[in-house]
Amino acid sequence: MNWEEIDKSAKLWIKEAGDRINNSFEKTLHIETKSNANDLVTDIDKATEKFFISKINEKFPDHKILGEEGFGDELNELTGVVWIIDPIDGTMNFVHQKRNFAISIGIYENGVGKIGLIYDVVHDELYHAIKGEGAFLNERPLRKLSSVPVSEAVIGLNSTWVTANRRIDPTILASLVRDVRGTRSYGSAAIEMAYVASGRLDAYITLRLSPWDFAAGIILVEEVGGVASTLKGEPIDFLNQNSVFISKPGFHDVVLKEYLRDGKW
Ligand code: IPD
Ligand code: CA
Ligand code: CA
Ligand code: CA
Repeated sequence: MNWEEIDKSAKLWIKEAGDRINNSFEKTLHIETKSNANDLVTDIDKATEKFFISKINEKFPDHKILGEEGFGDELNELTGVVWIIDPIDGTMNFVHQKRNFAISIGIYENGVGKIGLIYDVVHDELYHAIKGEGAFLNERPLRKLSSVPVSEAVIGLNSTWVTANRRIDPTILASLVRDVRGTRSYGSAAIEMAYVASGRLDAYITLRLSPWDFAAGIILVEEVGGVASTLKGEPIDFLNQNSVFISKPGFHDVVLKEYLRDGKW
């Protein structure tokens, strides 16, 4: 497998897709809803996914594609080379703010993450990791992560998960929120994972994400020594929805043991 060629192509295409998105800002967005009134998708999400699919099919016809908007392949397994793509992660931000969204691409071989790319289009920040070769922000190497005490941690967490809801007991996460230094919510799982990889956040916790939300982020975070698991501490399943807890090492063990272990996630 020519990973250098795959990497070069992925970087070129993600920048080109970002330019197209930037150029779309003057045009009127066509917005639709999906599973509920707050689950948005636009013509630009769809066009971006189709852009990647046509590029990949042309250059790497034997690679498979799993994309959020469903224009790729239907996959029950991760054999061969699979591109897991979220064309716009943070569509609500894209629609409401025109910022704080990202393109996320994770490239896997037989289920093993090889290349992760997260492109924060408006800030022109490209996070990029190649398994075994390090992680970079706009080509500058990212430092290895080390632990942080709970009392000094700033964690990414959506406030939904500390309100009463039918899925979980919110008091468990509320006690973590009380003990950490602060919480942040950026509205894009990919950006929040890229922030953990670059040390801007110490952890990111969420109850439900799909493979395209975390495929790239987990490669990035693990490449700098971070840890990824479900909230139960189990391995992430890359073909299904999961709860996700990614963080600096050390901190991950402490939070699992002292806070999350008792939850029915
Ligand atoms: C969403 C964002 C959001 C997260 C949601 C995701 P989308 O992805 O990552 O931050 O809380 O669970 O579905 O739909 O904007 O690609
Ligand atoms: Ca979506
Ligand atoms: Ca997403
Ligand atoms: Ca999306």
